[in-house]
Amino acid sequence: MSIDVSPTIKIKKTQHSKIHEVDFNNLPFGQVVTDHMFVCDFIDGKWQQPQIVPYQNIILDPSSKIFHYGQSVFEGMKAYKDKDGKTWLFRPEDNQKRINISAKRMAIPEFPEEYFMEGLKALLKLESDWIPTTNGSSLYIRPFIFATGNGFHASPSDEYKFVIACSPSGAYFDRKVKLLIEQKYSRSANGGVGYAKAGGNYGGQFYPTKLANEKGYDQVIWTDDTSHQYIEEAGAMNIFIRIGDTLITAPTSDRILDGITRKSIIEIAKDEGINVEIRKFSVNELIDACDNSTLKEMFGAGTAAIVLPISGFGFNGRDYDLPDLNNSYSDLLKKRITDIYYNRSEDKFGWRYLVE
Ligand code: PLP
Ligand code: COI
Repeated sequence: MSIDVSPTIKIKKTQHSKIHEVDFNNLPFGQVVTDHMFVCDFIDGKWQQPQIVPYQNIILDPSSKIFHYGQSVFEGMKAYKDKDGKTWLFRPEDNQKRINISAKRMAIPEFPEEYFMEGLKALLKLESDWIPTTNGSSLYIRPFIFATGNGFHASPSDEYKFVIACSPSGAYFDRKVKLLIEQKYSRSANGGVGYAKAGGNYGGQFYPTKLANEKGYDQVIWTDDTSHQYIEEAGAMNIFIRIGDTLITAPTSDRILDGITRKSIIEIAKDEGINVEIRKFSVNELIDACDNSTLKEMFGAGTAAIVLPISGFGFNGRDYDLPDLNNSYSDLLKKRITDIYYNRSEDKFGWRYLVE
């Protein structure tokens, strides 16, 4: 749906800021919330006037469709402050487009581009003091849409709520992770919802991930749903594998999220002169490369985790360790992308977006 006029956002400020209760030097990921949220309701077939209100509970009827049929989609993005106090986003238009790709798949009405961008900017301006400046921290931004219409009929809701909530956050993982190659469960399937950031995709990952945690692994490496032979994603990240000096990542499909970090890392790696291959990559190829020592490194890539090095993986009851490299691609690529995030380097790709 496209609405060409800029929205007028009604703003109601909190009388009781919580900011002084927050220890900005010890921020967990996604636990602390800011003072305000952006909200907009879909009622009578259209998105209503957007508002910014004090962060608060949302009251729903027990028959709300979100509880029964899981119509919910979300995004994950971050705002960064540079040393001059300016606020930046990274490729926010891509998040805006992707939430509507996800919404369409879940039969949720698309949220107008202008509302998303104007709402996001207005909220970030209001919450400017909440954007952390401590090393490695940022303001995690969670836009989401969910079904608020009532009734147990298994059909799309006629009412929805769009919300943007924010959380000053530290690292998602502050160490390398050990992963288990999944041989039984799948996070997505052909013709399914894997390419959408739909809430249920993540709920469905929790049980296999819990089983992997019980065996001592941090996350699961997702393989294709039919053969479990091909490596697709890692936890809630896209995955990169370095064999010799070639960096490999799986092609996106309807099973894989088209990650904004993934596509940026591909561009930066190419810019560094690294040979990048986007192709199917099998578990057998990985094991062979590990056995003949051509497997140099593996890492996950995503907004929350940024670039996350993998220390090793488990497969068929055996553990495989990766070497500790001095000049790893993951260190290089993480530095390049975070320097762009925080306005510490030139932005030759034009990805940075100035909020204020
Ligand atoms: N894959 C999955 C399943 C994810 O949930 C995410 C996180 O958003 C990603 C990949 C990485 O996507 P992005 O880089 O756009 O955050
Ligand atoms: C993100 O990287 O932003 C995500 O959405 C991943 C996760 C926290 C679900």
